[in-house]
Amino acid sequence: MSMKSATLVVLAGLCLVAAARADGIEAKYAKACATCHGSGVLNAPRTGDKAAWAPRLQQGLPVLLSHVKGGFKNMPAKGLCNDCSDADYEALIKFMSQ
Ligand code: HEC
Repeated sequence: MSMKSATLVVLAGLCLVAAARADGIEAKYAKACATCHGSGVLNAPRTGDKAAWAPRLQQGLPVLLSHVKGGFKNMPAKGLCNDCSDADYEALIKFMSQ
């Protein structure tokens, strides 16, 4: 195998990994968080609504994580995602707040 094709194989592999990770988060978002954060039902900050997310993000990630995991006002504990890790929640919060 030439140097050039080896590089291409590595690059293609990296792209697949990146795509799989993005898919995982979007699937979790669609299955759980989107139920409320997609429409803004129950006063949930809507996905992509930066103004709504700004004051919440100011609390810092550790506070946001504890609110999702333990439940917060109208949001049920874990945000309906039973197989989400802390890293998943972090990615979901970033995904929704941008
Ligand atoms: C059943 C509806 C519902 C689902 C499902 C849900 N949320 Fe929420 N979420 C809410 C509501 C309502 C609020 C706003 C609570 C308030 O401030 O009144 C909220 C607020 C938040 C906040 C901000 C908390 C704060 O301290 O300001 C974060 C972060 C969050 N949700 C993350 C998530 C994530 C991640 C998921 C998916 C794993 C999720 N939510 C799923 C209803 C939901």
